[in-house]
Amino acid sequence: MIDFSSYDRVFLLTDEQVAKCCLPVVCSDLGTPISDVLVLPAGEQHKNLASVQRIWDWLFAQQATRSSLLINLGGGVICDMGGFAASTYMRGMAYINIPTTLLAMVDAGTGGKTGIDYTPMSEAGSTASLKNAIGVFAEPVDTIIRPELLSTLPAEELLSGYAEMIKHAVLQNPKTLAELLNYDLRQVATPDFGELIRRSVAFKQSVVEQDPHDKGRRQILNFGHTVGHAIEALLLEREQKSEVRNQKSAKPHGYCVMYGMVAEAYLSHMICGLPAEVVSTLNRFMLENYGTAPVTCNDFDALLRLMLHDKKNKEQGTIVCTLLQSVGQPVTGQTVTPEQLREAIEYLC
Ligand SMILES: NC(=O)c1ccc[n+]([C@@H]2O[C@H](COP(=O)([O-])OP(=O)(O)OC[C@H]3O[C@@H](n4cnc5c(N)ncnc54)[C@H](O)[C@@H]3O)[C@@H](O)[C@H]2O)c1
Ligand SMILES: [Zn+2]
Repeated sequence: MIDFSSYDRVFLLTDEQVAKCCLPVVCSDLGTPISDVLVLPAGEQHKNLASVQRIWDWLFAQQATRSSLLINLGGGVICDMGGFAASTYMRGMAYINIPTTLLAMVDAGTGGKTGIDYTPMSEAGSTASLKNAIGVFAEPVDTIIRPELLSTLPAEELLSGYAEMIKHAVLQNPKTLAELLNYDLRQVATPDFGELIRRSVAFKQSVVEQDPHDKGRRQILNFGHTVGHAIEALLLEREQKSEVRNQKSAKPHGYCVMYGMVAEAYLSHMICGLPAEVVSTLNRFMLENYGTAPVTCNDFDALLRLMLHDKKNKEQGTIVCTLLQSVGQPVTGQTVTPEQLREAIEYLC
């Protein structure tokens, strides 16, 4: 239980969707009165400086002090943005996260990475922004996990978060991975599932504690994300260029991570000796739950271009991934050649 008595007042930030489905239940048993609520529009396109300014303006108008507390109730967008706004307001007020998506429960809500997407002034008017380009490391005072909040979450969002749980399991041990691969996903929002979430979060926390500022060990959490981010960016580019109005080709982040994990498991087999059986098991799970990756071998050049721009590469012109020697034994900083990548993408298509 949080000790609210150490704060002069408590404020709550949420988005329009979460305000409808989660705010009433959370307010009814939070154990403290809320001084004021700010509701922002939902969606990644609002994770920007203009929204942070709205949050700061609201806190000033409410005369929030450095002894006030901000509660972020929402998915990763609200947790990232609210954490950033709180940690910079008057040089930092305390915040807690109450994540409402599975992705935010197991990933975005813990670990202290806060921030927003940013469009430089020179690009003003452009729809493209640099993802998570501005932010600070600032730990929440607490992260409250309430699995029952997942009952209103669309199935696609649930699967998106589940991919990050699979990633944590792949990094942990074969037993946890088998448990998740065989879990009946209709059981989410039950106490049983809550236990799986808590174990996934505990794993992430244990990694973050060893390397809070992402300089070494924490990079194991990038497994699946080198290829995954490139697929995510490619689908977004395609959607923005599409001539067909409202044609949706982008996929939730976790879907792209699932495709990326299969490609990187294949690379792990080639480079680090990961048993082929692990690659085929992950591939089967992907096909059954996330469908085929929405890329073809013709996309290789575009994917390569995007991977070469990945901010995780330390040297220009190289591609660096976290790979696996076995389930539970990740290795960071593995350089991959374009030829090896081509083979991995071919496996994925
Ligand atoms: N800080 C980190 O370490 C970290 C890690 C991973 C991801 N992220 C960030 O997280 C963001 C993605 O998070 P997300 O997938 O939660 O997206 P999101 O916050 O946009 O939420 C997805 C959608 O679900 C809705 N929603 C939220 N909870 C709901 C509920 N219980 N019922 C019904 N609808 C609900 C939201 O209104 C939104 O429309 C990205 O911006 C990403 O960069 C941060
Ligand atoms: Zn991720």
